[in-house]
Amino acid sequence: MKHFTPSHALNRLPEQFFAKLVSKLNTYQENGHDAINLGQGNPDQPTPEHIVQALKDAADNPVYHKYPPFRGFEFLKEAVATYYKREYGVEVDPTTEVAILPGSKTGLVELSQCFLNPDDIALMPDPGYPDYWSGVAMTDAIMEPMPLLQENDFLPDYDAIDQATWEKAKLMFLNYPNNPTGAVADQSFFEQTIEHADKHDVCVVHDFAYGAIGFDGKKPMSFLEVPGAKDVGVEVYTMSKTYNMAGWRIAFAVGNPSVIEALETVQDHYFCSLFGAEQEAAATALLDSQQCVEDLRQTYETRRNLLVGGLNDLGFNVQPCHGSFFVWLKVPEGFTSEAFADDLLEKVGLFVAPGVGFGAHGEGYVRIGLNNPEQTLHDALKRFAKYSKSS
Ligand SMILES: Cc1ncc(COP(=O)(O)O)c(C=O)c1O
Repeated sequence: MKHFTPSHALNRLPEQFFAKLVSKLNTYQENGHDAINLGQGNPDQPTPEHIVQALKDAADNPVYHKYPPFRGFEFLKEAVATYYKREYGVEVDPTTEVAILPGSKTGLVELSQCFLNPDDIALMPDPGYPDYWSGVAMTDAIMEPMPLLQENDFLPDYDAIDQATWEKAKLMFLNYPNNPTGAVADQSFFEQTIEHADKHDVCVVHDFAYGAIGFDGKKPMSFLEVPGAKDVGVEVYTMSKTYNMAGWRIAFAVGNPSVIEALETVQDHYFCSLFGAEQEAAATALLDSQQCVEDLRQTYETRRNLLVGGLNDLGFNVQPCHGSFFVWLKVPEGFTSEAFADDLLEKVGLFVAPGVGFGAHGEGYVRIGLNNPEQTLHDALKRFAKYSKSS
């Protein structure tokens, strides 16, 4: 059998961190051990019934059995514009300022392909969602980490980026509410972002995956709410988290028309949009009652209170968690993040994500997901208590 050598682009791809994590957990469970999985970010609840019903009804429509329009149905883009107006007071032109994506993971990789040439710089949050790296690696551009430090509320410090880096920078990825730290951004941070991006011609990609999940009565801000945002970038919004639709693979990008056009052009070659019935169900999700979203948000807030309260009572060092469904926990003295994650798994069957998997500045932390029912989180706390006593 011949072995065909993958392209340089493929060889540059980093190891898929989440795939490696899952295989570690699988091996542990295959060996007969019982583990609580706190390591992943997969929403644990079903898609709200009215959205599933909309898909079932629309599946009968023969219009959707044909190829959909290349760039998706206009009714979905209009629903996105209505959503942004209703939720954030942001005006969006559905035709030129919205692109439908087969999941935001795909869109985030495509954005690097759209704008980066070899040796350009992409500014990356560190720690950050690892899929940003994949697109950059394929283009042979350079990743410049922007450390997210606790003393800066896990926001990048733009003054720490030198002039030469700004000059070569073409793209900047941001994500608030933040995976993995649980931090949120405020208006003044986004204003600084726009100022720097405008000055240095950097395209900002704000990943708003956890836009619906904010705690303590504070609704997370859309980047596009801030004047000037559309001039310098786009926001990427997934249906995966807001509506528990991770398996459906549907998201959208909203904002700067030249960025949207570039995304649409790439996608004209890769895809022929998504199944029309799915697009209709997605429009239903965006336009119908948002009670399901509020219920979901409250569920995560209750879980956060339970887990953070319990961990603090046990003496663990938990970082403030204002949004997203992750808790960012400092590892005890003397451990690396991987050593602590391994120790938790081996001693008490708790599976968490080592912070170093999200970048060098994730070292010293582990990420705990809130994607388990309260009862499981109670059980997890009992295991943390047992771990504390044993160490
Ligand atoms: C920060 C962030 N962005 C993007 C995604 C990808 O979401 P999807 O591809 O389901 O739209 C995730 C998924 O976990 C995420 O955490």
